[in-house]
Amino acid sequence: MTEKKQSASLTELIHMILPSDTNAAGNLHGGVLLKLIDSTAAIVAMRHSRKNCVTVAIENTKFLEPVFLGELIILNGKLIRTGNSSMNIEVTASAENLQTGKIRHTNTALLTFVALDEKGKTTTVPKLLLETND
Ligand SMILES: CC(C)(COP(=O)(O)OP(=O)(O)OC[C@H]1O[C@@H](n2cnc3c(N)ncnc32)[C@H](O)[C@@H]1OP(=O)(O)O)[C@@H](O)C(=O)NCCC(=O)NCCS
Repeated sequence: MTEKKQSASLTELIHMILPSDTNAAGNLHGGVLLKLIDSTAAIVAMRHSRKNCVTVAIENTKFLEPVFLGELIILNGKLIRTGNSSMNIEVTASAENLQTGKIRHTNTALLTFVALDEKGKTTTVPKLLLETND
């Protein structure tokens, strides 16, 4: 079984909030943010496994702060555990106000992805090689 470092799949995704992402009040839709969180975690899973991966679970996530039209949403994804075919990924989301440069933490989500082979069956993934005490 091969091993891979966490750093090999670290992912940062940055998205500017446009009118199509918001409600009438100019706040980012929760569903749009969930899609960005899911996409970030999918990239982590596929970078680690180099396989097609599907979302199995998105654990309880809370929307701690509103995000507004014209702000950036910054998503950072990291692999925190591997099983046989499954991968647990943590995604943190932060909002950046482009005028002030102020950054605020808005969400942390935990997701589980499973790697699939060419026939759509679950397949093993490299083990996570831990690099730090954290
Ligand atoms: C993912 C899927 C292939 C798993 O099939 P399955 O027959 O349940 O497979 P298994 O029972 O062998 O489980 C596979 C792995 O998923 C994990 N798993 C299954 N259900 C889970 C859940 N609800 N939460 C967390 N992990 C779960 C298992 O623990 C196992 O991990 P391991 O291989 O590391 O030990 C199947 O459930 C599926 O196709 N789901 C739909 C996925 C999808 O369409 N997602 C949205 C679009 S991407």
